[in-house]
Amino acid sequence: MTDKINELLKVVEQFQTDSWDEAEEFRIRLLSKKGQISLLFNDFKSLPPDEKREVGQQLNTLKEAALQKVNQIKQRLEEEIIKSQGSDKYPDLSLPAEFHHTGSRHPISIVRNQINSIFEKIGFVISEGPEIEDDWHNFSALNFADEHPARDMQDTFFVEKNPDIALRTHTSSVQVRVMKNQKPPIRTISPGRVFRNEAISARAHCIFHQVEGLYIDKDVSFADLKHVLNHFAQEFFGKESRIRLRPSYFPFTEPSAEMDVSCPFCKGKGCNICKGTGWVEIMGCGMVDPNVLENCGIDSTVYSGYAFGMGIERITMLKYMVNDLRLYFENDMRFLKQFSSAH
Ligand code: DAH
Repeated sequence: MTDKINELLKVVEQFQTDSWDEAEEFRIRLLSKKGQISLLFNDFKSLPPDEKREVGQQLNTLKEAALQKVNQIKQRLEEEIIKSQGSDKYPDLSLPAEFHHTGSRHPISIVRNQINSIFEKIGFVISEGPEIEDDWHNFSALNFADEHPARDMQDTFFVEKNPDIALRTHTSSVQVRVMKNQKPPIRTISPGRVFRNEAISARAHCIFHQVEGLYIDKDVSFADLKHVLNHFAQEFFGKESRIRLRPSYFPFTEPSAEMDVSCPFCKGKGCNICKGTGWVEIMGCGMVDPNVLENCGIDSTVYSGYAFGMGIERITMLKYMVNDLRLYFENDMRFLKQFSSAH
């Protein structure tokens, strides 16, 4: 046994390496549970008592030597790595701190939050609905005729056919969910993502964002709608803003209108943003069609209401003069950084 110990002691003394892995292998070979030294400790148990004292000391010396060797090598290698990385164990506390980039909100989120807060202050509550919708919530309940072109494959991303499940093409679907689940009076706005099967260009995208508004109560009139929209325009675009409503058509409102705001860039004088007209279109609106109320279980002889819907990208474009829709989705830091002072 003593011979074996001396043999291993020599091995330990001679061992040298510049490789961390080899040092670790060496430790395992000698010192792990089934390593050579541990096996010697097992044999040691069966020695006659008079040999135990001396051999025990030798074994302990061997184990200590092996441990020391491994630790020395590892410490040396560690120091070399630190040196080669050019840093020291103790950092230089007088160095200036590293610069951290602070994130900023996306311009669409900034504008959505502003729109939300303008309406929340006058009693609207936020409601949300699913981005994957069935045909009934997205079209039928909203009075779209069966042959309406918006149902067409060219406009809508279908997830399943028969029964039709699609990515919602507008946030008006949330109106339906709210009216089905709540009793009037209802005063809600629904911001969210919508999807249309469009070729991507500076002026069109297959994903964009809308905010939908809905107010249902007894005796709601078109004058109420006009008043609220005027309030919104003045809060968002400034007190000098004016609005105008032009007759239009949507299946879910009757009468329907499109709302223009006086051009925020030229203040109505005419520029290339408003194509010289002094007005820019920002949303669709109207009185909720009685068919829609009935489809959602609301008595149209007792209740009436208005609805409106606007595209957040368009409003953001008017606020920040961003004229390419693709910029909103590319997440280019050079674009996003420009909004870091807004919130
Ligand atoms: N859903 C319409 C669209 O996506 C926008 C809209 C128009 C919403 C009129 C309304 C509304 O609530 O009354 O183009």
